[in-house]
Amino acid sequence: MTFHKQPRKFKVILFLTLFFSAFGAQIATAQEQPEPDPINGATIYAARCANCHGPLGMGDGELAPNLPNPPPAIGDPAYLASTDPFGIAQTIYNGRVQNGMPGFGPESNSNPLTEQEIFDVVAGLEILPRMTEPIPAARVIGQVGNGSVGDLLTSGVVTLQAFTPEFEEGLSFSTDIQADGSFNFDLNNLPPNWIYRTFVSYNGLDFASNIGRLTPFETETTLNVIVFDQTTDDAGIRVAQHQTLVDFGLETVQVAEIYLFSNTEPEVYVGDSLESGTVQIPIPAGAESVIFLQGFGDVNTFAPVEDPVVENNVWRPKLDVLPGQGTLQLLMRYRLPYEPGMTISHPLPYPTDFIDIAIPNTGAGISTEANWRPEEITEGLAGEADVRLRYSRSPMPPDSTFDFTITGFPSIVLDADGNRIQQRDDVTELLIGAIVLIIVAAVVSITAYSWSQQPAAEPDKVALVRRIAALDLAYEEKTVTKRAWQQKRQDLLKQLKAIWS
Ligand code: HEC
Repeated sequence: MTFHKQPRKFKVILFLTLFFSAFGAQIATAQEQPEPDPINGATIYAARCANCHGPLGMGDGELAPNLPNPPPAIGDPAYLASTDPFGIAQTIYNGRVQNGMPGFGPESNSNPLTEQEIFDVVAGLEILPRMTEPIPAARVIGQVGNGSVGDLLTSGVVTLQAFTPEFEEGLSFSTDIQADGSFNFDLNNLPPNWIYRTFVSYNGLDFASNIGRLTPFETETTLNVIVFDQTTDDAGIRVAQHQTLVDFGLETVQVAEIYLFSNTEPEVYVGDSLESGTVQIPIPAGAESVIFLQGFGDVNTFAPVEDPVVENNVWRPKLDVLPGQGTLQLLMRYRLPYEPGMTISHPLPYPTDFIDIAIPNTGAGISTEANWRPEEITEGLAGEADVRLRYSRSPMPPDSTFDFTITGFPSIVLDADGNRIQQRDDVTELLIGAIVLIIVAAVVSITAYSWSQQPAAEPDKVALVRRIAALDLAYEEKTVTKRAWQQKRQDLLKQLKAIWS
């Protein structure tokens, strides 16, 4: 059923040896380098080359008429037969900039292709025609397990969703789970380059698989689903990371606290009920302009927490916490009037493993009396204008108090664009800065199912959030290139912000 194109080995090794000797790369032997992946290469080609060289490499891309030289038909079998892979790789690496061919190596490109990706693209040129053909027959298979009891699910319904390359939800199909826990979807005549995932609704919650792809060369993919039982007991809830970002306004201090929740029990934590909210996020009395967001494990994919439950300065999202590390990421932002020497404080209900604060290095600091230890100074996202002091403290047991005292007068700071830092009111920007800290501290892995469990909301919001999450997954799994991912995500975020504001 599955057909893998096997590149001729001798050719590959010769090619790698030539490539590395030419560029003096550090990799010792050709054997250590994985074989070129033509499917990945064709995907990169579509994102980085097709606009000039054309979707099938026939020299007819949309930018072709504007170039000083015509882009050659590099997908033409006659061209490929007459050129050696090394020459092609070298041109891709260095470019011929005066003639309109950009270089893709690190010296000439701000978003360079790795050596492996260049090999992949060269191999991908050979399969371009087939990558755009419909797939006559393909199959999605998998098993559904219950992660709480460690057993297979023997009944129920699995849904397969297909996303277009633009991350629109395309098709969806459903089928029954077999008595042995397996399922399969036999599909016919599929468009190329779609992205697939499966999900199962179990006791009212949706659990989704990772995402997969089908191509003319890979006509079968496995998309297993793990479901979990539910618990109302918060014994397994911990905060793996609690990070705080402090910024100053003229007479205000703006605090962003990021919580990365883990659940050490094998059941999904749903609070007393999802409707009454799950984890508690307390804020200080008197906090204003409160913004509550859910993060999706990446630099700026986020969405406002919908319809939170708010009581006595405690906010709870209607979002469950899946078993595992860092399965729920929340950001709470608020503002307080600033006075030097003020203490900001609120309860910290759960055991907290890693805890730190970052504050601009502009005259103010955190008092080290309450067990805060100064750490190294780091540069924030806004570059040199945004140097931050960092402080950390030991892990805290459940039902602790989170408190810190700010000392000194911050001077007014300008960001890279010459704006006052305190005018950076934009949620995205703060979130970016904050989540970058998280990423620096630890690699966060939020799995596919964390986004499939949003409470019901207006369908277009949910659809957008899903599309962003699907896009990020696609990028993580290297089924879209960085450039395509960034462009598309910015576009989706813009749409999302427009709906929410
Ligand atoms: C901005 C347009 C543009 C983009 C993007 C672009 N190319 Fe080119 N490419 C050109 C032009 C124009 C030439 C012809 C240069 C010349 O006449 O010397 C060329 C030449 C080439 C050649 C040399 C062909 C030969 O033997 O004469 C190769 C190989 C090539 N491109 C591959 C790629 C690949 C692979 C990508 C994507 C990673 C890519 N190009 C992206 C415009 C582009």
